[in-house]
Amino acid sequence: MGFSVTDIRKDFPIFERTIRDGKRLVYLDSGATAQKPWAVINAESDFYSKHNAAVHRGAHQLAEEATDAYEGARAIVAEFIGADENEIIFTKSATESINLLAYAMGNAEAGNRFALTSADSIVVTEMEHHANLIPWQQLAKRTGAQLSWFKVTEDSRLDLSNIDQIITSSTKIVAITHQSNVLGTINPLEAIARRAHEVGAVVVLDACQSVPHMKVDVQELGVDFLAFSGHKAVGPTGVGVLWGKAQLLDELPPFLTGGSMVTSVTMTDATWAQVPQKFEAGVPNMAQAVGLGAAFNYLSAIGMDAIRKHEISLTNYALKKMLAIPGIKIIGPQSNESRGATIAFTIQDIHPHDVGQFVDSQGVAVRTGHHCAWPLAKCMNVPATTRASFYLYNDEHDVDALVEAVVGAQKYFGRF
Ligand code: ALA
Repeated sequence: MGFSVTDIRKDFPIFERTIRDGKRLVYLDSGATAQKPWAVINAESDFYSKHNAAVHRGAHQLAEEATDAYEGARAIVAEFIGADENEIIFTKSATESINLLAYAMGNAEAGNRFALTSADSIVVTEMEHHANLIPWQQLAKRTGAQLSWFKVTEDSRLDLSNIDQIITSSTKIVAITHQSNVLGTINPLEAIARRAHEVGAVVVLDACQSVPHMKVDVQELGVDFLAFSGHKAVGPTGVGVLWGKAQLLDELPPFLTGGSMVTSVTMTDATWAQVPQKFEAGVPNMAQAVGLGAAFNYLSAIGMDAIRKHEISLTNYALKKMLAIPGIKIIGPQSNESRGATIAFTIQDIHPHDVGQFVDSQGVAVRTGHHCAWPLAKCMNVPATTRASFYLYNDEHDVDALVEAVVGAQKYFGRF
């Protein structure tokens, strides 16, 4: 059940344009943000041009249509990740989803299961991108809780050899990425979730790099909360999702307060609506949520298993071709086992920014830098890397173009 990349690319209008003096666009930066198909662009545009009104308010036809579209999107998202509709909270981004969780936990009073003190610990990993590190680091600072982390091994995997010493009886939260945005490593969640639950901690999964690329079913993962952004999954910017188990969301205090998240209000107090409304204060990002629904319908029609299979095959091809370039170092697993379609690398004697700039001049878009995972770059002993990240609209010609451009950079800078 494969698909034709040539056909897929016709769905994405951006591939109709050329760049850098008429060159074909080779877009290898989907780890930062994915391109958008017409289905998503049209869904957002249709919402504004035909149904726009504030959801959950107003007694007119447009408000009804807008509410149906918004809640319809919630149902699509829920089905996409195997969740219950009431467990889906729309935010503006994955970063906001994780901050929502961290601030809501910080609002928990003594007696609430999420209340943290200096006797508690929060566990993260050295491979987190900033969005799943800084909110926890800051929560630890605010509450006095200790921050601990799993280190990364030389072969770019999490070092779980001391799991019982890292996740201890004082651990309340374990926040971990499903797939590293730099290394491509897919983490072994089962062992981590088992240990976390053994000590009564909750597991928060940063699924930014997995939900767009593989079938993710929250019933099977064994985690308690999960966050991802829409824009990396061919959806619009400005929409993210926080999923949590219903009972845990019930126990979690709100973060943002205001309209639509209350059941009663007096001058001095208020009571909270049920989830998900409790966490969606104010007029939400309706058109973006509707766009995300369209994105997931689009991906579902292609099939997440087919997308994953395509990316595995492309990564196999890319690893083989790239490892044959003299002077290259792949920063991440060298094999394709438990690995996503993200390949970060360095080239001997050429700064990653120079590599990025040269390959861009050849029409190949990659990301350079620390990829918002600064501690990871330090741990891998590199100031920065060049990162190619692949998606359903990439094929072997794109890999060939990258390899040719990298070799061209080596020639240009007088190396090899
Ligand atoms: N969005 C960031 C990336 O490019 C984290 O991986």
